[in-house]
Amino acid sequence: MQAVALGRLDPTACADTLAVMTTAELSDADRRVLWHPFTQHQGWEDELAPIIERGQGTTIYDTDGTAYIDGVSSLWCNIHGHRHPHIDAAIHAQVDRISHSTMLGLSHPPAIELAQRLVEIAPSPSPDQPKREPLTRVFYSDSGSTAVEIALKMAFQSFAQNGQQQRSSFICLRDAYHGDTIGSVSVGGIDLFHSLYRPLLFDAWQADSGDAGSMAELLEQHGHNVAAVIVEPLIQGAAGMLVHPPGYLKRVRELCDAHGVLMICDEVATGFGRTGRMFACEHEGVVPDLLCLAKGITGGYLPLAATLATESVYRSFLGEHEDYRTFFHGHTYTGNPLACAAAIASLEVFEQERTLERVQTTIALLVDYLDHYVKPLGAVAEIRRVGLMTGIALSDSPARERLGHQVTLAARRRGAIVRPLGDVIVLMPPLSISDSELEQLVRISADAIAEVTQPSPATTGAEQAGQPSAQA
Ligand SMILES: Cc1ncc(COP(=O)(O)O)c(C=O)c1O
Repeated sequence: MQAVALGRLDPTACADTLAVMTTAELSDADRRVLWHPFTQHQGWEDELAPIIERGQGTTIYDTDGTAYIDGVSSLWCNIHGHRHPHIDAAIHAQVDRISHSTMLGLSHPPAIELAQRLVEIAPSPSPDQPKREPLTRVFYSDSGSTAVEIALKMAFQSFAQNGQQQRSSFICLRDAYHGDTIGSVSVGGIDLFHSLYRPLLFDAWQADSGDAGSMAELLEQHGHNVAAVIVEPLIQGAAGMLVHPPGYLKRVRELCDAHGVLMICDEVATGFGRTGRMFACEHEGVVPDLLCLAKGITGGYLPLAATLATESVYRSFLGEHEDYRTFFHGHTYTGNPLACAAAIASLEVFEQERTLERVQTTIALLVDYLDHYVKPLGAVAEIRRVGLMTGIALSDSPARERLGHQVTLAARRRGAIVRPLGDVIVLMPPLSISDSELEQLVRISADAIAEVTQPSPATTGAEQAGQPSAQA
């Protein structure tokens, strides 16, 4: 065993290790030691997925130097592009102070400053909603799933310690996706992901998506036993960009109030400008009792999540130490200072670059490009979209053909990373995408759909053989 002299580590050594591995060696090691999320490894191990080494703006580069447009914002989280100088600098500056310090029994400036800012920008009651409470308390965690898990536990515990123990169940939406931990899966409605785990889950009633009548009926029947209704506001991302009818969210808010049920809005995907407003709830003037944030919160740089609560929810946890009304929950990396510094910097970029104003033009262009390039394609059944969140649904085909997957491979060969949700092609570019990059992304997606759904003998078989691939 080699002895390492303390204080003598070469600070450049770590960067060199990566540089000496070739793409082939990295791929080989990937297949030997990694287990990728949402991936059937039986196929994956024969495939060559790009290994991303760096990014700049909307472009990511693999270890061979091939450039791709990041058409899904690195799984729906990048906001201002990769290597944004302001966010990079904020993280570097925080590294020079401290990279991690616990929030249990201690606090730190980035967590405090970010919480203040989140409370300021959170959906808030308008003057005609005098009884509605603002969101005033921020509880940190580290992923969308944990933000949801926390909201569910808060809702349950809040009622339990206020004499309403019978309010122990939840209502969610059919085809909902709120993450992969046991609690968030319990309020999930995507059978493909969730049905196997049913024996491990708690029961939740499922209302039909976007159907206020179905929600009203469930609340009528079970409202007295329900702690909270949880919804993805306006658009259910992982369900394949399922858009709710206008007014639905507002109606759900009214129904929750009528039945004394808390409303949890999961803005993990929709938050931070993705729908054209900072938060999707703002489109309908809705203020939930609990708000779940993650993904874009750090501009897509580091794992961080926040669950925002009203003062009433917060106060229901106050009591003497021996009352045990404490919220017994907290992750090791809760409120990590580097992540909080990145999140503050991202919010500063929103202000400095007038991101929300500028994204309106980007959204309008996206509509034009989708109309021009995608809509005319025979294989496109529907385009579903709110803001920059876009799902291109392909016409029905046998599942084994994996058309969505094939389209993403074809797009990748043309220089864009897009992801399938079954046979729905998802486009969700960073808010900072330039007009020309956006046109290129939509054109590539359209060409990829055309290639896969109208194959010509000259291009398909040969072009597809031996090409890099990824899992749906
Ligand atoms: C609406 C919603 N909630 C929660 C999650 C889970 O977030 P994470 O993957 O960070 O746990 C996701 C992820 O896509 C999501 O779309």
